[in-house]
Amino acid sequence: MTWLITGGAGYIGAHVVRAMAEAGERTVVYDDLSAGIAARVPEDVPLVTGSTLDGEKLARVLAEHEVTGVVHLAARKQVGESVERPLHYYRENVEGLRVLLEAVTEAEVGSFVFSSSAAVYGMPDVKLVTEETPCAPMSPYGETKLAGEWLVRATGRATGLSTASLRYFNVAGAARPELADTGVFNLVPMVFEKLTQDAAPHVFGDDYPTPDGTCVRDYIHVVDLAEAHVAAARALQAGPGRALTLNIGSGEGVSVREMIDRINAVTGYDRPPTVTARRPGDPARVVASAERAAAELGWKARHDVQDMITSAWQGWLRLHPEAART
Ligand code: WQD
Repeated sequence: MTWLITGGAGYIGAHVVRAMAEAGERTVVYDDLSAGIAARVPEDVPLVTGSTLDGEKLARVLAEHEVTGVVHLAARKQVGESVERPLHYYRENVEGLRVLLEAVTEAEVGSFVFSSSAAVYGMPDVKLVTEETPCAPMSPYGETKLAGEWLVRATGRATGLSTASLRYFNVAGAARPELADTGVFNLVPMVFEKLTQDAAPHVFGDDYPTPDGTCVRDYIHVVDLAEAHVAAARALQAGPGRALTLNIGSGEGVSVREMIDRINAVTGYDRPPTVTARRPGDPARVVASAERAAAELGWKARHDVQDMITSAWQGWLRLHPEAART
């Protein structure tokens, strides 16, 4: 089997490539390097630079490498930017997927793992989000992920392609410092940035209906997330016509305040946060029920928030050595 990993030079993709290699699977990376970094791709894994909007190039790569399965992670993923540039997000995330699926069907690839997001749920008003919780995305980003799931599933139904849509919750951590997320778009790196600037981290609202008033999320270590892709890839190989939709989370809720306390402890800073206004569109609580992934894949998260923060901080220090406290 050879797996094409689109977005394999990205933060999550590079972890998936490594997890697949550790599981003995051959991979080829396809990435436009708009956010991906070539150095993240292992030397023995071919890297093809290209866009998922380029159907001809995709067809060539699928044929040349005799690809039998695809893990599709290449996408734009900033919620705020998607509000400003919805057409760009629909083109990259939905049209790019449609073009890829056309090439995949033409090449008679058997398995397709799609990178989806908890953003498909929007503002869920439940303690634990199951895959049956109604989807009501709050941003064009979330809409493109939900539309992507529909495209993937409909293609599977029509052609027999086995599919899995993995709904990631809040991803953090790194397997190694050089694989860490370099973007500063999520809570953990945003707090690191404030601490590095000797400024107080921001809590976006502390008047939510949660135990400490701050938002509760389900943080998942990127190494666990990568292993979920391997498990999904294996499950799809079991036969044609499979159609899985799975939450990939830990099942545990952690508040923003708890995260900031732990980040202070791990980094050696002692910066109490400043409470600022709520960020529009933030749900109070989004925590996965991870039961279906456990039942279908035999997968569950193994790493805790402490591992995520510690490994993310090692990655941060690699790029910002001046942030070190000790
Ligand atoms: C987490 C919590 C913030 C920064 C987003 C996408 C989701 C997925 C993951 C992609 C929230 C609070 C943050 C800060 C804060 N993306 N916060 N101070 O919004 O849960 O999820 O990223 O696939 O689709 O929506 O993640 O890390 O931005 O925020 O108080 O400086 O931290 O308000 O409650 P979010 P996040």
